Amino acid sequence: MPVLTIMPSGKTLQYNEGMSILEVLLAAGESIGTKCGGKAECGSCHIFVHDGRKSLSKVQRSENEKLDTIVGVGAKSRLACQAKLGGEDVTIELLGFSSGF
Ligand code: FES
Repeated sequence: MPVLTIMPSGKTLQYNEGMSILEVLLAAGESIGTKCGGKAECGSCHIFVHDGRKSLSKVQRSENEKLDTIVGVGAKSRLACQAKLGGEDVTIELLGFSSGF
């Protein structure tokens, strides 16, 4: 089973392929913003993906448009609600600040 590693805690979570990063985080009780309920509208689930980015689902237009409005976005940015996990290990960073709203 592939593993999602969460920084900065270093916690690891196993996941089933096809789940969004947000679904995995919420199932594990992690604290992350979900104001819009996973519709790429609020930006509160903004994370950085450090490893395994290529195995994630591609960025769709709605995610791209939301990311464009968020302060602090970089090349590693994704919305956890939109990024679906593939079959490879992924390392993400939870951002310790609210963004996008
Ligand atoms: S939960 Fe709102 S953009 Fe992801």
